Amino acid sequence: MTAIILDGQKVANQLAEKLKIQVRHLSRTPILIIISIGNNPENKIYLDKKINRGAQLGIKIKVHHLAASTNERSVIDLIQHYNQDQLVSGIMVQLPLPEQISYYHLVRAINPLKDVDGFNEQNVGRLWNGDSNFIAPATPRGILSLLSAYDLSLKGKHTVVIGRSNLVGKPLAGLCLAKDSTVTLTHRKTTNLRKITQIADILVVAIGQAQMVDQSYVKPGAIVIDVGINTTAQGLMGDVNFSAVKEISSYITPVPKGIGPMTVISLLENVVKAQKSQELG
Ligand code: GUN
Repeated sequence: MTAIILDGQKVANQLAEKLKIQVRHLSRTPILIIISIGNNPENKIYLDKKINRGAQLGIKIKVHHLAASTNERSVIDLIQHYNQDQLVSGIMVQLPLPEQISYYHLVRAINPLKDVDGFNEQNVGRLWNGDSNFIAPATPRGILSLLSAYDLSLKGKHTVVIGRSNLVGKPLAGLCLAKDSTVTLTHRKTTNLRKITQIADILVVAIGQAQMVDQSYVKPGAIVIDVGINTTAQGLMGDVNFSAVKEISSYITPVPKGIGPMTVISLLENVVKAQKSQELG
């Protein structure tokens, strides 16, 4: 068996066409503020992808750069300034953060209606409470949109996620449960990991370790989603050994052009959603 490739770039382009129409119908140009602290060269690549896609859709993205030595108070003050600015639709702080700044304090400071990352406690709580009125994190939403674009249902399926981050693993587990999937959330300390991944109908890998998942982790016919983006001496690599795993899985995402573009378009969808809910008051 050779897997069907889940083409995140193609699906993201299709979703972009739909989003462009929604943007045209808004009462004003959506504005996303990205606060970027320090000078991480990897961040620059992701920022450029967001800015380019935003420009194509009529969404203005303003990056507010701060020095790596910035203190937490100044970042919170800046967030509060943008919270008050009626023209700003969404605010996000690019991760990772320097040591002196607490992730928890920052996400708590963002107005939940402008929290396009979906990291604020109100959005996280609503996700787990089964409330439909919340903003969900971009990467998990991108994964679900990609599966949906290929008519792949989660209902009754066993989804195993490797990685328990606030960005991907944890919110993805909540979203999959809401889609009637049975979910197992695993991580670096999980014992007998292969025993668990080998029974997955859908295996999502978001662990940040290049090529970690080979054929021995995968049930023949499973759907494999690779969230990893690892910069290695050999270039950009996912968490899955693509050439080996594509021989036994039914569907698989490539890296690049898999989950990456889906994350960018999902974030911009969140910006439009945030602005719509602000327009409604
Ligand atoms: N850094 C890598 N991915 C993300 C993301 O989804 N949101 C934020 N804020 N920072 C990131």
